[in-house]
Amino acid sequence: MDTLEWLLFLCIYFKVTQIAELSWTADVPNEVKGLLGSCVVIPCSYNYPDPQGKAKSFTGIWMTTEGDRVIYHPTQSKIVKQYQSRTKLLGDASKNCSLMIEKLQQDDRGPFYFRIEIEGYNRASYRKNKVSISVMDEPNPIDFSVQEEVKEGQTVSAFCSVSHSCPTYPPDFHWSHPGVQHFQAQKLQNGQWNSTSTLTFCSNRTDHNKSLQCSVTYHEGKHQETSKTIKVKYAPDIKSSSKCFSERGKVMCECIVESRPPSMLHFVLGDRVVQNSKVQTVGSVTTGTLQTDFGSFKFVHCLANNTLGNANLTLSLPLVDNMQNIFIACGAGVIFLIVLIATGVGVVKKWKEDRKDMSCSDIYANDHVYGNTDCDESIYNNV
Ligand SMILES: *[C@@H]1O[C@H](CO)[C@@H](O)[C@H](O)[C@H]1NC(C)=O
Ligand SMILES: *[C@@H]1O[C@H](CO)[C@@H](O)[C@H](O)[C@H]1NC(C)=O
Ligand SMILES: *[C@@H]1O[C@H](CO)[C@@H](O)[C@H](O)[C@H]1NC(C)=O
Ligand SMILES: *[C@@H]1O[C@H](CO)[C@@H](O)[C@H](O)[C@H]1NC(C)=O
Ligand SMILES: *[C@@H]1O[C@H](CO)[C@@H](O)[C@H](O)[C@H]1NC(C)=O
Ligand SMILES: *[C@@H]1O[C@H](CO)[C@@H](O)[C@H](O)[C@H]1NC(C)=O
Repeated sequence: MDTLEWLLFLCIYFKVTQIAELSWTADVPNEVKGLLGSCVVIPCSYNYPDPQGKAKSFTGIWMTTEGDRVIYHPTQSKIVKQYQSRTKLLGDASKNCSLMIEKLQQDDRGPFYFRIEIEGYNRASYRKNKVSISVMDEPNPIDFSVQEEVKEGQTVSAFCSVSHSCPTYPPDFHWSHPGVQHFQAQKLQNGQWNSTSTLTFCSNRTDHNKSLQCSVTYHEGKHQETSKTIKVKYAPDIKSSSKCFSERGKVMCECIVESRPPSMLHFVLGDRVVQNSKVQTVGSVTTGTLQTDFGSFKFVHCLANNTLGNANLTLSLPLVDNMQNIFIACGAGVIFLIVLIATGVGVVKKWKEDRKDMSCSDIYANDHVYGNTDCDESIYNNV
């Protein structure tokens, strides 16, 4: 044989043996991780030679390599006590030997192997393809990610994912914040699965400094949770409670701004920035107070800005307005009084001429006339 022929022979030989081996093969991982108390699914598929298609009825069995104890059989009574009503074969029995074990116990470690009994045809044990279970007391930590700093109104997407080995009953996710939830499962290797829950919501300033929590409950109870605090930034918002007022004859302006990060705040009178204002920040609230000589100005502007934007509000100055009102009211009052006195004198003169006696009601009427001057006082009271 020359080299070429030798190679050809090798190729054919391996091809043939490969086919032969494929004929009675099983595909099962060496080890599957499982969570204590939860469920574990051992992924498994198998092959058998069936050139004439005689195989019709299949009995799949799982056993321990030590002692050949039956851990799964379609007939419950053939299963050893330890595994009774906890094991189940999943999928199509003619090629799928996936086994689910529920309420996983510390000594469910195996190793295990699969055996197939094909009625009226053949039977085989896949002893070489043994699988062990690694029992974990606690689940792996949650993988949690979210943007920790967002602008208000921006969409926030938070991802929470865990690995598990119970695809039949995947873990339940619970979020501490309302929003749109999306669930996704991804197959990993060796019977492991990745379950991801995505929460999407619109950020609001009320979410600032609140912890966003994701909690996971595995089948049959194990519970796990994690959280992250999110920061929500927003442009200044000048509160409508901002105002100018007079106190003991002095006019003061107060401008209250809410923003994150805190704003810079200025008062503008006419077209110049007033320097001697006081600015104080507590948390997200910035309060500016201004006490100065406002001259004849009727308005003062409050300007606020932070890295996200700016805002302004025009505040009217109280004293200027009210002084004008007082002048107008006094002027009107004086004119009214003059008119009243003039007509009053005429009337009294007439009465004195007509009748010498005066009734009580006339006195009250006179009082009432003079009482009218109180309206000025009531204006002052209003100031
Ligand atoms: C075996 O059955 C399980 C459960 O129905 C399924 O998830 C898996 O994909 C099946 N495997 C094959 C190889 O068909
Ligand atoms: C934030 O929430 C409040 C009340 O829940 C709502 O009025 C406001 O529109 C929200 N802001 C944004 C930007 O969604
Ligand atoms: C699980 O899936 C998510 C989303 O596809 C991914 O971000 C994460 O890294 C995965 N985790 C693992 C352990 O594969
Ligand atoms: C965030 O909340 C914690 C308590 O939950 C509090 O101690 C802290 O002062 C808050 N920080 C801000 C910036 O609001
Ligand atoms: C606010 O605006 C002033 C002038 O326009 C600028 O100098 C300042 O840096 C701004 N402040 C912030 C916090 O962006
Ligand atoms: C005040 O805000 C308005 C919009 O709300 C803007 O058009 C105007 O230019 C601002 N004025 C100043 C002085 O920043």
